[in-house]
Amino acid sequence: MNAKQIKRLVPSSTIGIVGGGQLGRMMAYDAKRMGYDVIVLDPKPNAPAGQVSDRQITADFSDITALRELATQSDVMTYEFEHIDVELLSVLESEGYAIYPSARTLRMIQNKFVQKTALKKAGIPVPDFYPVGSLDELAKVFEKLDGKMVLKSCTGGYDGKGNAIIKDKSQLEEAYQMLSGYELMAEEFVEYVKEVSIIAAKNHEGIVFYPVAENTHKDSILIHSIIPANITSDIEESIKDAAQKVVKEMDDYGLFCIEFFVDAKGNVLVNEIAPRPHNSGHYSIEGCITSQFEQVVRIVTGMPLGSARLRSACAMYNLLGCNEVDGAYYIEGLENILNMEDCHFHLYGKADTKPQKKIGHITALGETTSEAALKAREALYSIQVKKIREV
Ligand SMILES: Nc1ncnc2c1ncn2[C@@H]1O[C@H](COP(=O)(O)OP(=O)(O)O)[C@@H](O)[C@H]1O
Ligand SMILES: [Mg+2]
Repeated sequence: MNAKQIKRLVPSSTIGIVGGGQLGRMMAYDAKRMGYDVIVLDPKPNAPAGQVSDRQITADFSDITALRELATQSDVMTYEFEHIDVELLSVLESEGYAIYPSARTLRMIQNKFVQKTALKKAGIPVPDFYPVGSLDELAKVFEKLDGKMVLKSCTGGYDGKGNAIIKDKSQLEEAYQMLSGYELMAEEFVEYVKEVSIIAAKNHEGIVFYPVAENTHKDSILIHSIIPANITSDIEESIKDAAQKVVKEMDDYGLFCIEFFVDAKGNVLVNEIAPRPHNSGHYSIEGCITSQFEQVVRIVTGMPLGSARLRSACAMYNLLGCNEVDGAYYIEGLENILNMEDCHFHLYGKADTKPQKKIGHITALGETTSEAALKAREALYSIQVKKIREV
């Protein structure tokens, strides 16, 4: 594993980030604060991360020349999303460039079927799942899963795009057609009582776990997280135990977010792993001693891990694009949030919004998660996404 030879990089060494979205932006902020140089690669000019970095290479993620340029100009590379051609990353690794997490890890994670198969083999609890190659097969799996399942595209999904919930036979064909063209798997529909996630940070010296976040999704998009999750210590132990096994299985260095379902009996099942900072970890910017973004910078530069201790209870609410605005926008009412103590507003610098698009988030800190959630919700309701009218 190339990660064993991780090199300590002092500022102003250069960190290359594949992907210029909000995760890259928040990574870049911390890297810049610590004195590193940052180059991002993204096809969209002036991408959210490009705006706060030293340089953006504007090119497709499949452009090997551009990826190689990023590699040549960086001392180490990482990525902010997992839908990258892993073959290209392997080529760069074979040319001697350092990438964390490695292409091998990304190959295991980016295909949900491959990922779940590896987890299951390692004895980590996951929902029942089956590969699906035809409508006929889908119908058979539907029977096996008692008439309730989630059809998933094995690659390329995010924010629920690539998933179809099937609870009736009549939905089989439409769901299959909608996702045809992708490698598919069908998964047991988990009647969970909670969704939670934990971030594990692993470097050359050890592992640090972040507090467990409790996540609420709507239409498969994260709406809010509260931290710490309201779970028993037994459930917390099971989560940490599974997370330990996941990290061991990956045998790599990086920041990993592991999403779980918790059922009514207190069983925990791994939903999926992200090999990068995660939306459910945004609270760590203000809520923890070391944010998930600073942590990934520390890991890839071969520096010591920082403490992930929670400073106080937190709530993070996503700011999503509303149905009324599609295109250029501005935020009205920000002064309301700025008048609230320990309530933190983040806007990602995206040029356009559209319904349900993640354009920012709010983190509130409080004595309790309910107090923090109340504050974050009040803050969110006090602002509006407004259309910029063309003149
Ligand atoms: N097997 C399942 N049972 C019940 N709900 C599910 C299942 N799989 C996914 N979901 C719901 O859909 C959301 C998104 O699914 P996920 O597989 O995590 O896809 P994405 O890659 O889009 O994050 C989950 O957070 C959960 O709310
Ligand atoms: Mg997910």
